[in-house]
Amino acid sequence: MTCFVPEKHYFCNMISSFSAQLEQWYHQFGRDLPWRGTSDPYLIMLSEFILQQTQICQGMDYYLRFAERFPTAESLAKASEEEVMRLWQGLGYYSRARHLHAAAKQIADAGTFRRDYSFVRALPGVGDYTAAAIMSFAFGEAYAVLDGNVQRVLARHFGITEPVDTTQGKKLLRALADEMLDRQHPALYNQAIMDFGACWCKPSVPLCDTCPLADTCQALSMHQVNMLPVKSKHTAVRDRYLTYIYTRTKDGQTLLRRRGSGDIWQGLFEFPVIESVNKLTSQQVDEFIHSSLVKANIKAKVELVASDFRHQLTHQRLHADFYLLTLPSAVESEEGKWVKESDLDRYALPRLLEKLLEKKG
Ligand code: ADE
Repeated sequence: MTCFVPEKHYFCNMISSFSAQLEQWYHQFGRDLPWRGTSDPYLIMLSEFILQQTQICQGMDYYLRFAERFPTAESLAKASEEEVMRLWQGLGYYSRARHLHAAAKQIADAGTFRRDYSFVRALPGVGDYTAAAIMSFAFGEAYAVLDGNVQRVLARHFGITEPVDTTQGKKLLRALADEMLDRQHPALYNQAIMDFGACWCKPSVPLCDTCPLADTCQALSMHQVNMLPVKSKHTAVRDRYLTYIYTRTKDGQTLLRRRGSGDIWQGLFEFPVIESVNKLTSQQVDEFIHSSLVKANIKAKVELVASDFRHQLTHQRLHADFYLLTLPSAVESEEGKWVKESDLDRYALPRLLEKLLEKKG
């Protein structure tokens, strides 16, 4: 892969116009988002945790609800894990909620949210990007953010053909991001380049016709806009087959189990599940259920409610089948504990199960 690396003075000449044009664009088109009206580092951290793997439109309500229920790190630190997970329910990637909770505890223990990069970077769940966002947005410190949007803007504008996921590519982009940062106005510049990447310099349909930086965009002049940024790795996606047995009794109870550590959805609740290498047939499921019920001399009805319900995670494609098993009454079970169905909404369930329950009606 060839790499277009312009001379350093070339960048220097472009710096002021690059940041000034982005900032001008931001004044006109930047989005008015609730976390932009604050310089409270805790609220900024909260918004960044929510936005780590979530679209703004989905994250907005969660941010508002969290900020209202837990307006300070201390209030969040004092909350139970159940309440935090319950409020996070539906956003997915629950390790973010656990990290957020742990970070709030560290801040509460420190007595204050310290204006110190090492303190911020050492908080659970805070990587380089989130640390730079907090330091610049909350404290006005000169740290350049480098997320996927910023990578794309820089790779295109400066014609970086080095894959952005290699050590060399990461180094190059980091140096470029640091060099382009407007050190007088780091918060404004960081918001501007991120929003510009999200709204104008978009991955597949960038708005080059109305781009304020079109005259100096290397990708545009080389007809490479849709080829940049380059990624070297193709991430493998693993298929997983889950057969859920939603077990209900006639007097309104259901079996629920809690997921353990070391896999997806740690600490969330779910119905008894069989994971298999391939999809199980209805007959296999029927036999499996009836062989355990026959031993207990129980007659029950099994129905398939949803088949091959798909749910995409970053590196996993889940295929879920959903069976309804109706029992006359609760029986002793090692599969979980019996809870009242009317209490189900007190438990944090994975989004996949929520969607399945909605579908069932
Ligand atoms: N994505 C992640 N952080 C963001 C922020 N502060 N504003 C807009 N989009 C974001």
